[in-house]
Amino acid sequence: MNNDWLYSEHFETHHIAPVCDEAEFTKIKLPHANKETPYNYFDERMYQFVSAYRKHIFLGRGYQGKRLFIDFEGVMAYAKCYFNGELVGDHKGGYTPFSVEITNHIRYGEDNVLTVMVDSTERDDIPPFGDTIDYLCYGGIYREVSLRVVEEDFISSVFIDTSDVMGATKNMSVDIRLNKKDTSPYEVMVQLCDDDCQVLETLKIDGVTESRISGALTDLDVLLWSLDNPIQYKVEVLLKKDDELIDVVEYKVGFRHAEFKADGFYLNGSYMNLVGLNRHQAYPYIGYAMPKRAQEKDADILKDLGLNIVRTSHYPQSRHFLNRCDEIGLLVLEEIPGWQHIGDEDWKDIAVENVREMIERDYNHPSIIMWGVRINESQDDHDFYTRTNDLSRELDKSRQTGGIRYLTDSELLEDVYTMNDFDYHQNDQKSITGLDDYVPYMVTEKVGHIYPTKRFDQEQRLVEHATRHLSAHNETFLDKHISGLICWCAFDYNTHHNFGSGDHICYHGVTDMFRIPKLAAYTYKSMKDPSDEIVMEPATIWAQGERDGCGINPLEIYTNCDAVQLYIDGKYVDTFLPNKNRYKGLKYPPVLIEKDFSTWGGHWSDARFVGMIGEQAVIEKTYVKDPVAKALVASVDDSKLSVGDWDTTRLTFKIVDQVGNVTPFINEVIELEIEGPGEIIGPKHMALIGGCIGAWIRTSGEAGVIRVNAKCTRFKANPIEIIVE
Ligand code: GAL
Repeated sequence: MNNDWLYSEHFETHHIAPVCDEAEFTKIKLPHANKETPYNYFDERMYQFVSAYRKHIFLGRGYQGKRLFIDFEGVMAYAKCYFNGELVGDHKGGYTPFSVEITNHIRYGEDNVLTVMVDSTERDDIPPFGDTIDYLCYGGIYREVSLRVVEEDFISSVFIDTSDVMGATKNMSVDIRLNKKDTSPYEVMVQLCDDDCQVLETLKIDGVTESRISGALTDLDVLLWSLDNPIQYKVEVLLKKDDELIDVVEYKVGFRHAEFKADGFYLNGSYMNLVGLNRHQAYPYIGYAMPKRAQEKDADILKDLGLNIVRTSHYPQSRHFLNRCDEIGLLVLEEIPGWQHIGDEDWKDIAVENVREMIERDYNHPSIIMWGVRINESQDDHDFYTRTNDLSRELDKSRQTGGIRYLTDSELLEDVYTMNDFDYHQNDQKSITGLDDYVPYMVTEKVGHIYPTKRFDQEQRLVEHATRHLSAHNETFLDKHISGLICWCAFDYNTHHNFGSGDHICYHGVTDMFRIPKLAAYTYKSMKDPSDEIVMEPATIWAQGERDGCGINPLEIYTNCDAVQLYIDGKYVDTFLPNKNRYKGLKYPPVLIEKDFSTWGGHWSDARFVGMIGEQAVIEKTYVKDPVAKALVASVDDSKLSVGDWDTTRLTFKIVDQVGNVTPFINEVIELEIEGPGEIIGPKHMALIGGCIGAWIRTSGEAGVIRVNAKCTRFKANPIEIIVE
């Protein structure tokens, strides 16, 4: 259902009719941004309007006797759906899914028309709106849509609890809801299968007459889902009547037990310090409207940074992102939409409904370990938050609740006190909670607006930014009463005019909006085990006059090596060791070089850093004293894309010097030429920012080869080929 939609930026009432003049509509595919925005300095109201989407759907006679639903995964912010001219449903809220039933309005064997009025204005009656918020809620039908065909009776939801794994046996319980009119008995069968679809265990429940049933599979021979081995199983639930299959649904699950205690977080009974970043789901130009591959890539980027947790600030995010977190072993704190503001009673009802929609959609993800059931950084509200907590516990007994606040002495209705504590140093949790005893506690934001940093800022600032991230994690490791720290934030993001740097960007990420790393990103990587990846990133561009007052010292090298050797002009200088004094909490503190090599205007030299593990040289990085731009280098995340729905991958371009280092102050414009079944999202001419830039490709859906050639005034890049098959 994602292809062949018609779109108009102006909704008119006559668009509801099955037949209308479609000349003003353009053909589009989902996910869709109602308006493409420039990279920065744009009018934030440009995507805040009411638009119309139409889709012609031919439904053959074979569908007669079935029930048909259209499932929307995300429409910002209010959707009103008409089928063949009749209103079939509406939904308030841009981050949670909804369905409309079209059964009674279908013309079988004929063309049918779905019209969706999409109101993407910031309506006061819908969370998170009502006051200012520090991010943009881009408009449109920005997630996928599908057609669901079921029998009269069907399985409406299955909650699978896989957390009972710490006792003598590993057990799984299921809570199944049926949409059932027929009063005759049904048979429900639950099958647990492994990766190869081998059935491991089966549960049969006969004579089902109720619409809600539960059961358990016990003493299971299963492996636990963990971050290093995120093993998933398949659960199939079948609904049968007189041996005839009526419905079948499938889920992936992971067996694991997650618990926040007063002395830290435990996964499967093992203590784990949580190291994370907050993620906004926004991208340059098309905002939220990115398909599966880009969503998955974000999870991969975060895992590659060495994180063990991500917070989906400040709303439920794409199922593709969450599925990927399940697959690669990245924990998730997911929360309801909102930012500081609490609206009236109707608004609160929607927020409570958001708790239900979020949990019902995402209950079966092993990666999710906590539900955030407060509006981010809102004031205490006893009745409201009693409702959200109660609902969460009613729907899901297996997960703890949190509620992200910036208040000290705030009423703790949740299981975990989750705090945005922007102080430089970690505070003892009791000084925040005001409680006499320690409670489960986690810091959910730090750094962010306290130290905004652009990828192209002066070296000193980039270093300080990195140091703030690393120091805060170092302190968290030392305090067992802080379960973890999720810093602000993963990626730079577009925002409203009253936040950010005046250009509609909050430069709070450890990467830029193209996911190109700043120095701070390497502090995360350096916390990885060397068996996973060997990391050594000197916090310098190796220029004598870049920092205030000249020089490059003190020089920290973010690394998980035992030591770093320095060679100047090819001659060994010394071996430098990790700074254990300052970073007592870290397993792999940065190596510190305090010795000064420079004088203003003095001789400058080439340098080579060699990372050592034991006696072995394992990684090196070279700098030249006089970098000269030598090449424009293009790279692509994926060289194969899929036909069908539109697919995407990221291109990155950088100008490098003689030894392959980025030239951060070069000022070239890149011109892109693209051939084949794809196009560049956003502009085809772009200035490098800090020596590099990114761009995403949108496939047309056809098979073929996409060829991208980039050039600037000085260089032609290596050509890129992407096969679409
Ligand atoms: C927090 C807020 C985030 C972001 C951050 C910037 O107060 O929760 O959404 O605005 O500040 O540091």
